[in-house]
Amino acid sequence: MSNERCILLGIESSCDETSAAVVADGSDILSNVVLSQVDEHAVYGGVVPEIASRAHIEAINGIVRQAMNDAHVQADDIAAVAAVHTPGLVGSLLIGVTAAKTLSWLWNVPLVGVDHIAAHAHSATLGTPGGDRPEGPFYPAVALVVSGGHTDLYEVDDPLHMRLLGSTTDDAAGECFDKVAAILELGYPGGPIIERLAKDGDAGAYEFPQAMLGRDSLDFSYSGLKTAVLYAARGQNCAMPDTSHLSGQDKANIAASFQSAALNVLVTKTKRALDQTGAKVVLLGGGVACNEYLRTALADMCRNINVRLLLPDRSLCTDNAAMVAAVGYHRFKAGLTTDLDLQAIA
Ligand code: KG4
Ligand code: ZN
Repeated sequence: MSNERCILLGIESSCDETSAAVVADGSDILSNVVLSQVDEHAVYGGVVPEIASRAHIEAINGIVRQAMNDAHVQADDIAAVAAVHTPGLVGSLLIGVTAAKTLSWLWNVPLVGVDHIAAHAHSATLGTPGGDRPEGPFYPAVALVVSGGHTDLYEVDDPLHMRLLGSTTDDAAGECFDKVAAILELGYPGGPIIERLAKDGDAGAYEFPQAMLGRDSLDFSYSGLKTAVLYAARGQNCAMPDTSHLSGQDKANIAASFQSAALNVLVTKTKRALDQTGAKVVLLGGGVACNEYLRTALADMCRNINVRLLLPDRSLCTDNAAMVAAVGYHRFKAGLTTDLDLQAIA
């Protein structure tokens, strides 16, 4: 392995994916191993923190070893170890942070703490793993990060500097997809299930609310939409005991109408953020970025106003360590390393 390259090991364990990745020069993904715990949590309809922590402990050593093997690198090749230390489930974060500290000490290389949201915000700049990478410049940009835990708009100056413009005041967009799938008794995680079902539905069948929260607001709210879906599925004030009275077509219509309401508001507010900041680039990130309706609607909006849109590769939308090593590289180059008392912060 050539000495000129700056190679980082990244570790991600903030929620229910255990991931390790090896990335060269902040953009060339040599490996990206992701172990999802989704089957272990599905039976509970959501992530159970204690189960997540235990699964991370069991998986982390093997995942790191596989990431190193897949990348054909040795400990000597690694310039620094980067780990997500905030935000997330504290018991889950602790496992990745502890693994990173141990390797940093053992290999005698710097440790870098990475913010999970910053990692999602920059995932689209990585292009396709092993394939094409987009050409810069990427900044100044507006980043839309939409996942199971976050619905945030940021103004981004560079990989190290971003300012929060707006955020959800209640549920995150992905969380709302998960809850609507639970209301419709469809399973977990809800995002991909709702998206699939919505393809057979009529998005105009129901007029669900999109919370705008004032003319200039860049915040989001999903609680009203969730209640509207609940009443559509179970009758006003949940008069019906379950959803057995709904046909497959009824459910598809609710899914399609919900999806367009939940995602159109993201597009509207991203456009507002562009108007307010003057940025000419949009970076999309987070699990909900897998959604084809959202990708197409954002692309249409950006094309109309001559703004560049960077969409993350599907493998980089949900939680992964490649995006962590990428942001970790920029922090490392800027001297933003940390000592072994790096804290996991929920
Ligand atoms: O980024 P992520 O893996 O984890 C968090 O940091 O939360 O995102 C997971 C979330 C889940 O809520 C899931 O339902 C949602 O992303 N999601 C989707 C789709 N695929 C995953 N939401 C809408 N459409 C999808 N295709
Ligand atoms: Zn995430």
